[in-house]
Amino acid sequence: MQKLKGVRSMEIIGHRGAAGTCPENTMVSFQRAIEEGASGIELDVHLSQDGEIIVIHDETVDRTTDGKGYIGELTYKDIRKLNAKYKFKEHNKCMVPSLPEVFEWAKEETFFINIELKNNVIEYPLLEWKVIDLVHQYGLKDRIVFSSFNHNSLARVLSYDSRFETAVLYSHKLFEPWHYAKHLGSDGLHPNSRNVTEVVVKAAHKEGLKVRPYTVNKKEEMLEMKKAGCDAIVTDYPKRAIELLK
Ligand code: G3P
Ligand code: MG
Repeated sequence: MQKLKGVRSMEIIGHRGAAGTCPENTMVSFQRAIEEGASGIELDVHLSQDGEIIVIHDETVDRTTDGKGYIGELTYKDIRKLNAKYKFKEHNKCMVPSLPEVFEWAKEETFFINIELKNNVIEYPLLEWKVIDLVHQYGLKDRIVFSSFNHNSLARVLSYDSRFETAVLYSHKLFEPWHYAKHLGSDGLHPNSRNVTEVVVKAAHKEGLKVRPYTVNKKEEMLEMKKAGCDAIVTDYPKRAIELLK
């Protein structure tokens, strides 16, 4: 395999855990990513009808569970009854986790957690505040990076507590995103990998920003991101990335 001499190391973040091989955003997926050697996990959060922080990607439970309905219209008890193994037939029943459940496990470990606030389609009142409060309860502040496609939400995080690390999540090309992120008071860029070039990474680094593209699953692209100088990649296949890049 091609060796990239003089290129600094790049962290591996498990996207929704190890979503390529496990049911996404479940405990088994997060644990698998860490077992495989990822230095962090990415997860998505919404609020249930009764205000519990639910770890799931979509606004509804339809795609990833055997149930139906919007997270915001279901209670935590309703959601816990569902089976979230969906297309992974070989897995046992797994539940949709709450953020406290993830934190209970994470508090014994050292990896970092990228919490993606999934409020770009539905705004959940006080989502940021509830998550921040929980992070403080568990003493995990220094291991958290907040990201969101809803940049107003990142601004809210920073207005509640400016000590939090945040990163601007974006899927389309932005003009000089490093200036935008700095203006927001953010610490990083989380672009779709198609928006990453060496120029973007260099300019971001000059501003002191971290660059962690998503979702980098193909080997060639993993190598490209490393060559461009990215600080981390977010991947469904942590094992693949670690074996390739070690
Ligand atoms: O945070 C990176 C990535 O998770 C953003 O896209 O749709 O997979 O949540 P999505
Ligand atoms: Mg996400």
